[in-house]
Amino acid sequence: MSDANAEQARIAALLSQMTLEEKVGQLLQVPAGGGHVPELLRRAVSEGRIGSVINEVHVDTVNELQWLATRQSRLGIPLLVGRDVIHGFTTVFPIPLGQAASWNPALVTLGARVAAREAAAVGVNWTFSPMVDIGRDPRWGRVAEGYGEDPYLTGVMGAAAVRGYQGASLADVGSIAACAKHFAGYGASESGRDYNTTNIPENELRNVHLPPFKAAIDAGVATLMTSFSDLNGVPASANALLLTQILRDEWAFDGMVVSDWESIRQLAVHGFTANDRDSAFEAATAGVDMEMTSTTYADHLAALVRDGHVSMQRLDTMVSNVLRLKFRLGLFENPYTDASHFPEAACAEHLQAARDAAVESLVLLKNDHVAHEAVTAPVLPLALDRLSSLAVIGPLADDPHDQLGTWIFDGDAQYSVTTLQAIRAHCQAHGQADGGHGVAVHYARGVATTRSRDRAEFAEAVAVAERSDAVVLVLGEEAILSGEAHCRADVTLPGVQEELIAAIAATGKPVVLVLMAGRALAIERVVPHVQALVYAWHPGTMGGAAIADVLFGAASPSGKLPVTLPRVTGQIPMYYGHKHTGKPATHDTVVHIDDIEARAPQLSVGNTSFHLDVAHTPLFPFGYGLSYGTIEYANITTSHSTLTPDGSITVSADVINTGHRAADEVVQLYVRDVVGNVTRPVRELKAFEKVHLLPGERRLVRFTLTADHLAFYGRAMRRMTEPGQFHVWIGGSSTTDLRTEFVLSA
Ligand code: GLC
Repeated sequence: MSDANAEQARIAALLSQMTLEEKVGQLLQVPAGGGHVPELLRRAVSEGRIGSVINEVHVDTVNELQWLATRQSRLGIPLLVGRDVIHGFTTVFPIPLGQAASWNPALVTLGARVAAREAAAVGVNWTFSPMVDIGRDPRWGRVAEGYGEDPYLTGVMGAAAVRGYQGASLADVGSIAACAKHFAGYGASESGRDYNTTNIPENELRNVHLPPFKAAIDAGVATLMTSFSDLNGVPASANALLLTQILRDEWAFDGMVVSDWESIRQLAVHGFTANDRDSAFEAATAGVDMEMTSTTYADHLAALVRDGHVSMQRLDTMVSNVLRLKFRLGLFENPYTDASHFPEAACAEHLQAARDAAVESLVLLKNDHVAHEAVTAPVLPLALDRLSSLAVIGPLADDPHDQLGTWIFDGDAQYSVTTLQAIRAHCQAHGQADGGHGVAVHYARGVATTRSRDRAEFAEAVAVAERSDAVVLVLGEEAILSGEAHCRADVTLPGVQEELIAAIAATGKPVVLVLMAGRALAIERVVPHVQALVYAWHPGTMGGAAIADVLFGAASPSGKLPVTLPRVTGQIPMYYGHKHTGKPATHDTVVHIDDIEARAPQLSVGNTSFHLDVAHTPLFPFGYGLSYGTIEYANITTSHSTLTPDGSITVSADVINTGHRAADEVVQLYVRDVVGNVTRPVRELKAFEKVHLLPGERRLVRFTLTADHLAFYGRAMRRMTEPGQFHVWIGGSSTTDLRTEFVLSA
């Protein structure tokens, strides 16, 4: 008998023994936590009426719950133990948006593996991660949890996380089930307000929002979670197009689908159903297997089956999806956790992995040359032998909690290394190394918090800057300003930070601005005031050490933006993979509001797609990031001018480091389908490779394209390719102009 048949036989055998109540019980996830088992929960688990708990992370209590489930209940079915392990457990990695900026899937896999090991050590066997929602609106707080604006990059990173969490086998010690969420289209919440309506044409849903879920499924993700949001009038937690037609019929997904927290009960709040019974009916028939924390299934599903409204076959399918996961996790053979089988949480190995991830997540956006004693050199890396004192300013320079970012239920700030601590350590080590030429480090907060509007500490910060040779400003957003339900209508720097930056800039000292944030910020007014700019996202436990590594040159920055940085909030949504429109803005068709003459004739101000009061381009584009090298691209070529439907072509280019320092460069390949069955984006990322280049090194980088790379969903909502002309670019960001062409033949 094949493994699949054997697995199905095990499920069928168990199912045949189960009562209706026991079947419904497997579909319920209930809240737990606090290291004890309340009497109601104890009884429910002992009677086989619970399939999963969420938020219990005390290993002894988890083992007690598993004992109740496997030794007290009639059929001994173990529990799924869920937890939001989003970017680390005790050891916190950069927020997923920061991890995406590394463009290093292997790093994401390692981070997920570390997180899985630390979570599994307390009995967690299911994480609600990776979030693979496309985030193109930084007003939405949850962009922090995703991998950015691009379907391809998000899919690569989401699949990498799945491989990390689930390992070679779900049954391995240290593996936990992953959960791709939130299915689907949640990132399109109108006005960037969480839980808000999403209206996404099916074609856009299939070409933009769904591919990362398919990539996670192709990587073997064990579960999916439905979104809170209303999708085109049908909430995702009761959306048969998503949960049956696409997920099961088209994609043949055999995993388990869980609702979001009370998202089934919320169907009535949406006004999609009249009551809990109808909500249970709609969710069950659409394809939600397990209900997270609300009790519509517990209260009504058995009756719906008895009354024939929900078939026993449908119920058995739902229960089978849950049992299959439990079998694959090996929980029937090994329901208990022995913490001694796992490395210590936040051990040196884990902290090093977090530090490496943080280093590669940092994006260098600006690095001006400044004169110092007749020598002109880039501000970064800071040359300690040319400094006698350094000012470190900003509340986020020394905040062990806020550098961790959102969704750190189990993160432990005691392990955090702050930027100030790491800078002090670097300067002290340097002083010791060169016989006493120590660099004095002076610190001032400048503002009490990133939201503070109190300028009382400005004077001290300015004084500290004035008596220093250079300034490192660490500002941005506290962790609480991003994440679930933490949306901002204005994504400029909160509080009076812009004023603080201007005050420090007025001292004339070289200023390095390090921004910690859970989203793309609109910082057009800030950039002219600083000589260097490092975007650090929320870099996690070892974020400070990573920032210091890059500031002093122990590591070269290699991050690239996974999201577009707008100039102002009003440009949002702004993303590189936009449509061409019939009247595109170009540099010579746009007119700035300040340049319009009084009583200008109606048609005198360009009729193309732009805003009068801001440039039509982003502040920094998707895929952009500098390094300590100087990277150039040349000689793009294709192996053939025509790609046949079943053939492939190689697209290659030279990448050259003309600088004096080694550098890591993310080489990116974009294509444009010039004419499509539906309008196609002006560019689409289709491949990337991170290469290490020594000073002066030239490398030929090759990518292979097939017709499948060019497939998309057309008007008929079927995945298709069509013959025609394609543009292809290779470069260091989405604005590269190194381009060639090819034709896909019929
Ligand atoms: C939350 C989130 C979801 C999370 C779940 C469990 O509301 O939307 O991402 O996994 O509830 O905490």
